[in-house]
Amino acid sequence: MARLDVTETFHGILFPGHLHTQDSLQLALTFQFQDTDILIASYPKSGTTWMQEIVTLISSRGDPHLSQTVPNWARAPWLEQYYSAAVLATSATPRIITTHLPYHLLGPALQNSKVKVIFVSRNPKDVVVSFYHFHKMAKFLPEVHSFPAFLNQFLDGTLHFGSWFDHIKGWTSQKAALNLLHITYEEMSMDLHGTMRRMSSFLQCPLLEDELNNCVKHCSFSSMKDNQMINYTLIPSEIMDHSKGSFMRKGQIGDWKNMFTKEQNQHFQSIFCSKMQDCSLEFVWEKQEKEDSLI
Ligand code: A3P
Repeated sequence: MARLDVTETFHGILFPGHLHTQDSLQLALTFQFQDTDILIASYPKSGTTWMQEIVTLISSRGDPHLSQTVPNWARAPWLEQYYSAAVLATSATPRIITTHLPYHLLGPALQNSKVKVIFVSRNPKDVVVSFYHFHKMAKFLPEVHSFPAFLNQFLDGTLHFGSWFDHIKGWTSQKAALNLLHITYEEMSMDLHGTMRRMSSFLQCPLLEDELNNCVKHCSFSSMKDNQMINYTLIPSEIMDHSKGSFMRKGQIGDWKNMFTKEQNQHFQSIFCSKMQDCSLEFVWEKQEKEDSLI
C-alpha cells in the first residue's frame, strides 16, 4: 500500500491514506477488545513510540529481545491501520494495541471492558513543533510550508488526526469510566524509573529492581535512536525521507522555545486558555523546577 497522496476523511477527521482506509477505520470502531488487552492511546508526537517500547519492555520483564527483533508496528499495531487485523489475529496475550483515534470514536468499543488503557499526552507546544518536523520527512502527510500556517492549522484542529484539544479532553474526561492510566511525556522524561514502576503496577506486572533498571536502559532516547526496530529507519525513503530529518529527533521538553516567536506564543496562550477553560489538567512546558513550569 503506498497511496501517499490519498487522504481519508472519517467522521470529519483527516487520516493518511497510506495506512488508513475507510474499512480499516470503520473496523476499529467495532473491534472486539479482550479484557487482557493493553491499549496505548495518544495524539501523534506525544510519545507514542516511546510508550510502545516501555510497554513491550515491561511485558518482557526488561528483556530487550522482542524490542530489538520485531518492529514496533508489528508488536503494538495501530488499531485503525489496515494491517492491524492480520497482526492482532496472531498476537500473543496480552495484546499491545495502539491508537490515535479520539475517544468519541473509540469509546463505544471500550464500554464495559477491562482493557488497560494508557493515555499518553505531551505539552501541545512541543507536540506541534515535533509534528511540524515530522511532516517534512513523512511523505504520507501533506507538504508543509511555513510554521505559522502549520501552527494555525494545529490550533484550528484541521491537521491530520484532528484537534489536539478534542483528543486530550475526550480521553482524560473518561478516567473514571475506563481502566485508564494517564502518563505524560514530561513525567517519562523527568522520572523514567518512577514512571515505569507506576506503569508496571498498573499493568499488574511488578518488576524486580534489576528488571526495572533494564527497562529504563533500553528505552532511553539514545538506545531507541540506535534501535532499527523502533527508530523507523526500516521505512523506505519513498515513504519517510530520512534525509529530511530523523524520527528520533530531539526528545526534549521545551523545544518549542526554539521555534515559537513571542507573538506566536501569545496567540497560542490565548487560544489554549479559551479552549481548555473547562479542563483542569496541568502541563509542563519546560524542563525546570515544577512550580515554575506549570500553568
Ligand atoms: P521530538 O520530535 O520532539 O524529538 P510519537 O512517537 O508520538 O510520534 O512521538 C515522537 C516524539 O517522541 C519525538 O519527539 C521523539 O524524539 C520522542 N521520543 C521517542 N522516544 C523517546 C525517548 N526514548 N526519549 C525522549 N523522547 C522520545
